[in-house]
Amino acid sequence: MKAGNLKKGAEIAPPKGKLGILIAGLGGAVSTTFIAGVELVRRGLAEPVGSLTQLGTIRLGKRFEHRSPKIKDFVPLADLDDLVFGGWDIYEANCFEAALYARVLKRDHLDAVKDFLSGIVPMKAVFDRRFVKNLDGSHIKEGPGLSDKLEQLKADISDFKARSGVDRCIVIWCGSTEIHLTAGPIHQSIDSLRKAVLANDPTIPPSMLYALAALESGTPFINGAPNLTIDIPAMIELADSTRTPLCGKDFKTGQTLMKTILAPGLKSRMLGLEGWYSTNILGNRDGLVLDDAESFKTKEESKLSVLAFLLQPHLYPTLYKNYYHKVTINYYPPRGDNKEGWDCIDIFGWLGYPMQIKVDFLCRDSILAAPLVLDLVLFMDLAKRAGMSGIQEWLSFYFKSPMVKEGLYPEHDLSIQSMKLKNTLRFLMGEEQITHFGLDYYMSEEAETNQGEVG
Ligand SMILES: NC(=O)c1ccc[n+]([C@@H]2O[C@H](COP(=O)([O-])OP(=O)(O)OC[C@H]3O[C@@H](n4cnc5c(N)ncnc54)[C@H](O)[C@@H]3O)[C@@H](O)[C@H]2O)c1
Repeated sequence: MKAGNLKKGAEIAPPKGKLGILIAGLGGAVSTTFIAGVELVRRGLAEPVGSLTQLGTIRLGKRFEHRSPKIKDFVPLADLDDLVFGGWDIYEANCFEAALYARVLKRDHLDAVKDFLSGIVPMKAVFDRRFVKNLDGSHIKEGPGLSDKLEQLKADISDFKARSGVDRCIVIWCGSTEIHLTAGPIHQSIDSLRKAVLANDPTIPPSMLYALAALESGTPFINGAPNLTIDIPAMIELADSTRTPLCGKDFKTGQTLMKTILAPGLKSRMLGLEGWYSTNILGNRDGLVLDDAESFKTKEESKLSVLAFLLQPHLYPTLYKNYYHKVTINYYPPRGDNKEGWDCIDIFGWLGYPMQIKVDFLCRDSILAAPLVLDLVLFMDLAKRAGMSGIQEWLSFYFKSPMVKEGLYPEHDLSIQSMKLKNTLRFLMGEEQITHFGLDYYMSEEAETNQGEVG
């Protein structure tokens, strides 16, 4: 994130006009649950549960001031009524048909917004089956090469803007998880990446073309999957040069959400860990895609990295040097989107005595992900209007593998991530940071002034 020229309380352009949300993977379970949900909320038929931007408050100043406005009243966010949806998918089903297929929302919820959802139709996707082996759609762009497809995506963004009359756009990847890729020489600079696109390099996945199309047109890009996509120097360079914010990756929803709530608590109490066994059964299309070993490897890496960063075994060898961590996902169609995530956690306490914790989270994947999509698009629009660009680390709160500047390790602790997010909002609006120091309430006035902290 370029914060060097960002001033505390800097002027933020108002959210005037409409905001376009362009989704890669428009017909997916997460996307359709998000869009249907926003429309249900707009019509007063449901509540936006799980959304910090819609329901959250933010404390300002000292605790005795009792100032806790709603976040949406504190920062200038786009209004839900101003969101306009579009995007791409490899299947041509409209959002109503796709939502029926996803089997996340109840029929009466979908029927209530059928007219609206039926009118949202995907544009043809850029797709290459080598990167998502278990899907095979036909609603796909033709073209002689990668640069031609990139131009088509850029044209899609500008046509959508003109057609729908939106003032500005956000692009978000809610598409399938691509096979595991690692950053190579072509990803090191925007120059080398552009050359590789021109040369039709076979290691450039579709998700990178969507990101290039967005960033080159100054449109913020969010990566909801664990794909490499924007996690490369070339994209960060491009985002900086076009003054565009980006963030990712992999929505933090079910099991990893629990992990990043539980593990920091165990660590702060200096309880040791012998093993953490996590398994999932999942029966939606995402589960089918992850049934392919190469797509699963991308997800596995994202899920596994969390504990090592949280527990810092190099600082606490007595507690965390040798823990065994295993994550599996099993495709089990009867469960559909209703994932079951089991965690068997073997911990040890005083003098090394063993204990066990079991978590069985009977969750709903897309119900957990949809409010994250909403918050992310609204906050990324805010970031753009506030003049922020590059990696938006303050949005780590929403991701399993948060992007950070080179040389920094990612912060996974959910409560620290929440603090980071809220302090960024306070900074943007010219309010004091809250450190939760607290001792200042008990200090003399003179000492407190010197301390300059807000507890
Ligand atoms: N809780 C969650 O649901 C959750 C959490 C973290 C990450 N994710 C990630 O979010 C993504 C979406 O999850 P989902 O459950 O909605 O999956 P889904 O399979 O229902 O939807 C993905 C959609 O992407 C489409 N697609 C695939 N490749 C595409 C391309 N190149 N261009 C355009 N569309 C393309 C597919 O046709 C499908 O409609 C997945 O990558 C998943 O791993 C989901």
